[in-house]
Amino acid sequence: MYKAPRGTSDILPREQGYWRYIEEKASSLCQLYGYERIDTPVFEDARLFIRTIGPGTDIVEKQTYSFEDRSGQEMTLRPEGTAPICRAYIEHGMHNLPQPVRLYYFASIFRYERPQKGRYRQHQQFGFEALGDDDPALDAEVIDMAWQFFAFLGLGGLSLLLNSIGCKLCRPNYLERLKGYYSEHVYHLCQDCKGRLVRNPLRLLDCKKPSCQGVAQSAPRSTEHLCPHCKEHFESVMRYLFLLGIPFEKNHRLVRGLDYYKRTVFEIQPQGEEGAQTALGGGGRYDDLIEELGGRPTPAIGFAAGMERIVLSIRMQGIATAAPSSSTVFVAYLGEGAKDEAVKMTAALRRTGISAISSLGDRSLRAQLRQANALGAAYALILGEEEVASGTVMLRDMARGEQKRVSMDGVVSILDKGNT
Ligand code: HAM
Repeated sequence: MYKAPRGTSDILPREQGYWRYIEEKASSLCQLYGYERIDTPVFEDARLFIRTIGPGTDIVEKQTYSFEDRSGQEMTLRPEGTAPICRAYIEHGMHNLPQPVRLYYFASIFRYERPQKGRYRQHQQFGFEALGDDDPALDAEVIDMAWQFFAFLGLGGLSLLLNSIGCKLCRPNYLERLKGYYSEHVYHLCQDCKGRLVRNPLRLLDCKKPSCQGVAQSAPRSTEHLCPHCKEHFESVMRYLFLLGIPFEKNHRLVRGLDYYKRTVFEIQPQGEEGAQTALGGGGRYDDLIEELGGRPTPAIGFAAGMERIVLSIRMQGIATAAPSSSTVFVAYLGEGAKDEAVKMTAALRRTGISAISSLGDRSLRAQLRQANALGAAYALILGEEEVASGTVMLRDMARGEQKRVSMDGVVSILDKGNT
């Protein structure tokens, strides 16, 4: 028996309501904030991700789905959505548009992870990016938008964590201090962190192992080693967030898992679960990324949320998403002559914009009505030889279990007007 690959899952019809709910809220949010939709390919040149996410990161080292295509080119299934958008920004000359360019996306993301609750090998992200401005008011806009997204969804009990990890001028000095501090505590570190100390010291701070967490707690803080420019930027971001009334917590251990971030980084997590791998979404500035990809210097900031984790939270918090519509009409028949009429009538209903399903095969009326019930049909139309001969049809209200005879010519307009 085949099964969905480990770490992936099918989204069955009965679960689709949650997904439509999130997509609708996300789309109206983007409309409100002036963000336009963009879609990029599911796979890209592998080098795009190695260069942007960073060779020393978990994603690039252990998690990409990469393959050589038939012409020998190395391709990677998108392990995140930001680098492809930067690639598209450059490729389509978006620097010629009014800046910043505000874009959003829904995208399947692929990471070869150890699957667990809320952590999958294929997941779906809703993300948005504002490219072409370094005004701290834009940081506040993106953070506000992320925060409002969860308010739109009706999700409560969330924390917004904020940090600044500096820029290419001040970060090297900070990293030296961080390495100095960690070198003194190397015996307490897990095996992974011993590697991070050499390859990616910033990631030492967000290790989830208890022994490493203790060391991280007293580690030097990036916000205390910012250059004057970054310091001013961070203070302005916080001031705008105060102005907007967005509650945030400064968290010096928030560093994010991708190398492209500069200055502002933020994450939204369920309260009390800080440190666990439960972020519903995260983002930050990536001011050098477009230039590193060969574009003009273009500061930018963005955010992405994991839709599976949001579905889990919506279910846990018992949030009511729209009830599935049960307006379908089920067309039942008895006998071959009546079947022709049923096929025609089902098509006529659909052409008028009424959702309709026709029975199939040769089954008893009882079995057909049972199916109508199971499908949640609001009405059944029943056609037998007598109805065909007299140009009528039985209209059955499934909830009430009542039925009446109506003319075949009139039934479409009766159902269309909801005038039953
Ligand atoms: P990220 O933090 O790697 O950021 O992913 C964003 C969100 O996707 C996470 O907060 C989480 O909700 C969800 N997520 C990540 N990995 C998984 C997984 N294996 N299974 C289920 N959900 C997952 C980014 O990808 C950045 N591109 C965000 C960004 C946009 N930064 C700037 N602009």
